[in-house]
Amino acid sequence: MSNELTPPHKADVSASEWEAIEELRRRREQSREGGGEDRIKSQHEKGKMTAHERIEYVLDPGTFREIAPFSEHRCTEFGMDDKQFPGDAVVTGYGEIHGRKTFVFAHDFTVLGGSVGEVVADKICRVMDQAVDAGVPVIGLNDSGGARIQEGVDSLGGFARIFKRNTDASGVIPQISCIMGPCAGGATYSPALTDFTFMVSDTSHMMITGPDVIETVTGEQISMAELGGTTTHTNKSGVAHMGYRTETDALDGIRRLLSYLPQNNMEDPPVLDSWDDPDRTCDRLTEIVPTDAKKPYDMNDVVKEIVDDGSFFEVHERFARSMIVGFARLDGQAVGVVANQPRAMAGTIDIDASAKAARFVRFCDSYNLPIVTLVDTPGFLPGTDQEHNGIIRHGAKLIYAYAEATVPLLTVITRKAYGGAYIVMGSKELGADRTYAWPTAELAVLGPKGAVNILYRNELAAADDTDTKRDTLIDEYREEFANPYKPAKRGYIDNVIEPQVTRRRLIDDLDLLDTKRGETHPKDHGNIPL
Ligand code: HXC
Repeated sequence: MSNELTPPHKADVSASEWEAIEELRRRREQSREGGGEDRIKSQHEKGKMTAHERIEYVLDPGTFREIAPFSEHRCTEFGMDDKQFPGDAVVTGYGEIHGRKTFVFAHDFTVLGGSVGEVVADKICRVMDQAVDAGVPVIGLNDSGGARIQEGVDSLGGFARIFKRNTDASGVIPQISCIMGPCAGGATYSPALTDFTFMVSDTSHMMITGPDVIETVTGEQISMAELGGTTTHTNKSGVAHMGYRTETDALDGIRRLLSYLPQNNMEDPPVLDSWDDPDRTCDRLTEIVPTDAKKPYDMNDVVKEIVDDGSFFEVHERFARSMIVGFARLDGQAVGVVANQPRAMAGTIDIDASAKAARFVRFCDSYNLPIVTLVDTPGFLPGTDQEHNGIIRHGAKLIYAYAEATVPLLTVITRKAYGGAYIVMGSKELGADRTYAWPTAELAVLGPKGAVNILYRNELAAADDTDTKRDTLIDEYREEFANPYKPAKRGYIDNVIEPQVTRRRLIDDLDLLDTKRGETHPKDHGNIPL
């Protein structure tokens, strides 16, 4: 693909002009070759595309416009004067995705391992500045050994400038990162500051320091995959939101993600013509959700039944599985979905689930995406491990995120909403604009057994048949709390609805709240518990 729209022909120009054009073409080709044929071959042999190939794949065909393909580093130490590559170790520019503008940078691993020196940092900062000015997203395709060792503090300062821009752009324009190679040091912290991080199985790794350094310092032996591979970061650390089998799958994922997002925080997300009837009743919901509160079910099925057919795009899927977050559409309008997953740890909210949902809620709030919350949780996960690792601090993040959100908040309680978990999952008092409960909903401070054991400790101890007495008391407690009518009487929920009409009701509410203007007090920023 050429970068030029109308390449001239030799016959149309003078000899000297033609010579200049040929020189430009030669230089451009050299820049495109990065570290040269052998290194490109080695990149391909590892199952990796080159920086240019990745950019051309992720953007709409023929839309890439490169910026600064002839930049060169200024380093002369460590034999670097002999290692000049036009464009240095990053390809930068802009193009379109689904016909909408986006800036992009892609580290070129074939040039000095994609390492980031002063000029590479300058190029990245330039596209980030322009993206913020233009109000369009930035995509970073990362394949870099981190700070360029030969350039010393110029490299470190370069990364600091990138981090500053990542932070300044946060909440202004969407920033998406894809890890597409062995990324170390600063090449991991910049993605960590962006909104979403994608990884590719087998070929991508993220680590502050590699296995060799770890063994030297601590004596611990660990493989690169175990330390910072895709499974580690999508399942365990939560550093990455998505893991894909191939580079093209990951780049397709970025294109899909952007389809739900506005270009910047001043815009509304794009509305598509809906392909799914807004009046469709959700008939499967009563089959999916068992009335027995102890029986698990897959909340994914509930989400898919309610939203536009095929529109649910779950993110952070393999991390903190008791909480589901993702994007979807309702009558073509993009929304964020947050939901408890009764199939994982009975839907309890632990430290990771709190942080995962809090971050997602804040993202949606930054980018004007209404949030639909589906609640079925027995509460926060109890236990020493959770307490000692700060469930209070981390759970507070979720409260904070919902309480500060100004986008439309629609909450549906499908079954259990106990204790603190009732409050944190988008309750009316935290700011929900609409709260519904299905007839199967149970709202209480504690689950029946726990509540009875505390409230009737003495009676149970004195009873001849403790188990029968406990069962009777549990039945009485259920009678009182295991239905949604008490909270409905007190106004904590707006209505009890039949599950089948949930889709239609949410679409009506989104329509009503389209013009919602949330007010916040002027301040630099709040102090979310970190
Ligand atoms: C200069 C680098 C480089 C770097 C790689 N290269 N990383 N050059 N600075 N940081 C060069 C290699 O010398 C090599 O050049 C070429 O890139 C390919 O690297 P290989 O090692 O052959 O590739 P591979 O075996 O795939 O290993 C990739 C790697 C490894 C895991 C990334 O190269 C590595 O561990 N690099 C150093 C990582 C690191 O510690 N970076 C600094 C982090 S500190 P030749 O010419 O020999 O082929 C940092 C500061 C910011 O980033 C921290 C913020 C908090």
